[in-house]
Amino acid sequence: MTLILALETSCDDTCAAVVDGAAIRSNVISSQAAAHARYGGIVPEVASRHHLELVNPVVDAALAGAEVELGDLDSLAVTREPGLIGALLVGVSTAKGLAAAAGKPLAGVDHLHGHVAANFLEPGPIEPPFLCLIASGGHTLLAGVRDARRYEVLGQTLDDAAGEALDKAARMLGLGYPGGPAIEREAESGDPRAFDLPLAMTNDPRLDFSFSGLKTSLLYAVRELGPERAAERRADLAASFQAAVVDQLLVKLRRAARGGSKRRRLPGGGWRSVALGGGVAANGLLRERVAELCEREGLELKLVARELCTDNAAMIASAARFCEPTPYPGYLGWDARS
Ligand SMILES: Nc1ncnc2c1ncn2[C@@H]1O[C@H](COP(=O)(O)OP(=O)(O)OP(=O)(O)O)[C@@H](O)[C@H]1O
Ligand SMILES: [Mg+2]
Repeated sequence: MTLILALETSCDDTCAAVVDGAAIRSNVISSQAAAHARYGGIVPEVASRHHLELVNPVVDAALAGAEVELGDLDSLAVTREPGLIGALLVGVSTAKGLAAAAGKPLAGVDHLHGHVAANFLEPGPIEPPFLCLIASGGHTLLAGVRDARRYEVLGQTLDDAAGEALDKAARMLGLGYPGGPAIEREAESGDPRAFDLPLAMTNDPRLDFSFSGLKTSLLYAVRELGPERAAERRADLAASFQAAVVDQLLVKLRRAARGGSKRRRLPGGGWRSVALGGGVAANGLLRERVAELCEREGLELKLVARELCTDNAAMIASAARFCEPTPYPGYLGWDARS
């Protein structure tokens, strides 16, 4: 087996993990959500400063949790892109320092490959080929995974990401940050059919998404209701918005799984297995609806634990198993996003 220590600091979670092959030995996540909540979203400078304070204790906790020392590792890995540049630099610099001190190889990992690779971890790792819907704070895309080392983008959002839309909707509804989980909680007591919000891009035969029109429709609905009525109808608004996001994801996922629509067949044909990735994949309604879809269409479904959907370093270590690491001291010259 291969023992890998990975760091992930691309956004607002400071993460370190140790994996042994497909088995997670430790997975430490220090969330900064509370530090950003009062701003209603992530402040890049605040994120970088918190990463600086947290990264060493988080790495120590991951090594201690796995009961290993730096010298026991086969290699290290770190998220190299995409993400907030100041935040990425903290992880990349720390990983370079640790790897150089131990004389170990280091792999720079693409964050989205990490979200795909969460599906390669125990329990029940999935093997390519499979179709992966990645819906996160910064990205929404359908990935065709035919090889564990890479993925092909089959369709992606033309504007906002699904998670970004949920975060902005939560802000409009006064539900705080992070918005996805807050909308999900609020929606539990709401009626998803109460407001007729648009289902964008569904007549478009491609596999792309769009969420900005949906966000504007919510804004108009809130304005029309006025502050008091909007507060009274908050659960219905949250439920309707969540349902509209999930419906759009479902339509495109089904189309991709079938290998296109009647109007337009897609190259590569249909898929037999489906997986999810990214923070929005922690959403209960989405998981339920995708499970129903797979049942109906006879597709194998892989759902990872919710804590492996949002940012974590175990997924980065998992992706690193399929990347060629750079031997010491070759990585000392490379930088985040260089
Ligand atoms: N239960 C949930 N339901 C819906 N959305 C959720 C849930 N939990 C988290 N999210 C959303 O997931 C997003 C965070 O996901 P993730 O941590 O993967 O994103 P990111 O790393 O910021 O972006 P990216 O991966 O694109 O760089 C946020 O937009 C958050 O609101
Ligand atoms: Mg992410």
